[in-house]
Amino acid sequence: MTGVQRVRIFPTADALGAALAEVVANVLAKTPSSVLGLPTGRTPIPLYRHLIDLHRLGRIDFRRATTFNLDEFVGLGQGDAGSYRTFMRKHLFDAVGLSPRRAHFLNGRARDLDKECERYERAIRRAGGIDLQILGLGTNGHIGFNEPARALSARTHRVQLRTATRQANASLFDHRWTRVPREGLSMGMSTILEARRIVLIATGATKARAVERMIHGPVTTGMPASFLQLHPHADVWVDSDAAARLKGSGGIR
Ligand code: GLP
Repeated sequence: MTGVQRVRIFPTADALGAALAEVVANVLAKTPSSVLGLPTGRTPIPLYRHLIDLHRLGRIDFRRATTFNLDEFVGLGQGDAGSYRTFMRKHLFDAVGLSPRRAHFLNGRARDLDKECERYERAIRRAGGIDLQILGLGTNGHIGFNEPARALSARTHRVQLRTATRQANASLFDHRWTRVPREGLSMGMSTILEARRIVLIATGATKARAVERMIHGPVTTGMPASFLQLHPHADVWVDSDAAARLKGSGGIR
């Protein structure tokens, strides 16, 4: 193992989601005003389901929590069906009573997108930084909308989306990837790496290759998730399918 990440392998995506929901519950029990960084996508859905269950059981309280979502599509914002803001309301926020004032998003409809990115950086700083950042993983190794490239942006920025990323997001747009916006706004690599603790989650066989490269490959802008190797408190949680290429590589678990 080349990096400092701790890797945990779960039998199923659901078991991973349940375990991570317990971690989030513990973080909020210890410090109710914690700041969480959250992803969208298929992968965190079991986590969000388990958080809703814990909330129903009275085992987690989001009232003092603050959240920052990683990214958003350019052109979309509040009320737009395909926006990540709508995704989060549907899959988590409405059910756990998180106040919209405390749930922060990039506004893809802002008139000046550069200023919007600067505003987001300031808002994260004003909140005291992110305590726990949960990340998904693109099949091409992206995190947030930080796509593989010759150079990566450090701070929150506007980004051109790769076709693979637009295709992966097609389910939000009637399964028609050509309807997925061509651009996004995303926290930058430094914004992400400044989080005090990171848990990247990846499930399913389609992620196996990216998981292997992220953990065992070199740190390279061609695989943005490989930068987690540089973070002192980054964990990688995978299900057995996403871990398929790690088996036999030794020292993992
Ligand atoms: C999108 C999001 C990422 C997410 C990734 C993986 O492009 N911008 O933040 O991690 O897709 O999505 P999924 O979990 O659906 O595989």
